[in-house]
Amino acid sequence: MTVSEIARVDPFHAMAIGRLAYELAGEGRDVIHMEYGQPSTGAPAAAIAAAHRVLDSDPGGYWESTALLERIARHYREAYDVGIDREQVILTCGASPAFVLALSSLFVPGARVALARPGYVAYRNTLKTLYLEPVEMACGPAERYQVTAAALDALDPAPDGLILASPANPTGTVIAPEELAAIAEVCRRKNIRVVSDEIYHGLAYGAPAQSTLQHLPEAVVVNSFSKYYSMAGWRLGWLVVLPEVVAPARARMNNLFLTPSVLAQHAGLIAMDETAELEGHVEGYARNRELLLAALPSLGLDRIAPPDGAFYIYADIGHLTEDSLAFCQQLLRDTGVATAPGIDFDPVDGHRFIRFSFAVSTALVQEAIARMVPWFASRAKARSA
Ligand SMILES: Cc1ncc(COP(=O)(O)O)c(C=O)c1O
Repeated sequence: MTVSEIARVDPFHAMAIGRLAYELAGEGRDVIHMEYGQPSTGAPAAAIAAAHRVLDSDPGGYWESTALLERIARHYREAYDVGIDREQVILTCGASPAFVLALSSLFVPGARVALARPGYVAYRNTLKTLYLEPVEMACGPAERYQVTAAALDALDPAPDGLILASPANPTGTVIAPEELAAIAEVCRRKNIRVVSDEIYHGLAYGAPAQSTLQHLPEAVVVNSFSKYYSMAGWRLGWLVVLPEVVAPARARMNNLFLTPSVLAQHAGLIAMDETAELEGHVEGYARNRELLLAALPSLGLDRIAPPDGAFYIYADIGHLTEDSLAFCQQLLRDTGVATAPGIDFDPVDGHRFIRFSFAVSTALVQEAIARMVPWFASRAKARSA
């Protein structure tokens, strides 16, 4: 790839769908937001109460919470039986800047970093922004839309790095423990550095996803309060890094972003113990997932990725369109249901995919299904006429 090809950052089309959705809502239309990957619930009530107290009593300067670092380190012991020191945790303003820190600490410009296609749009674009070369690995239903050890091992030349995401966006698929162990073995053997995006951990509908740290202690792990903790707008996340990566990653955090917000750090610490409320959200997502899975055949959608986790369903709409962006725009204009076009996640095959986010209320999922069934039927009829 040439430097100018690497540097070309593509738009995030779901954001454009979101803008259209808000424009239509402004005209009085009843819009259902299934385009963004964000919980419609707020932060846990106790976290919000803590933030109110902090606002009344704290001057709110630059600050890093030692208690939160400790609590995150404890989380790795409790959830994954992985021992890490609090010094290995770096607090960030969400997973997005955590990626900038991780990638720029591990790789020099021009390095080649492999990732699954389809995958989260920002991986590709963050890599390009940092003048790193994305090596997209086409992943289809046979490999559950995930990188496999065999495919990684077959890359010639071997990449310098690998981004893993399990559960993944846009598919929700989880990498099985034995496959994750095999991927770790290839990475160790070929000296491929791994950045593991674990932002959807806690949101699994079968066995919980494993952390890459369970197989590869040298992996850099990215996580955030945006999904399981339902705090996307608070902009809080973290990185776990090896001791030798702490200094470069921390230097980047402090120079580029200073510290996360004081309010978010206090609230995040409380949120980590609000399990009952957070598991209630997961139960809601599980209900929504069941409803959508049951309804998809009546929309004529039967080629979907198995959504093991996260809150997405990625479905093949190739029999209805060759232009997923135009399809999503029309669906939104006609029914008020906003969805994300596959081209955000896959520049090659994404024109025939759509992503539904079911992180909305169950009532809204039911309403969206009711609106979409006749619309999809009329699209299918128009195509076959
Ligand atoms: C897979 C994945 N990683 C990272 C992010 C960024 O999250 P944050 O809000 O923590 O920056 C998202 C947001 O949707 C995501 O889906």
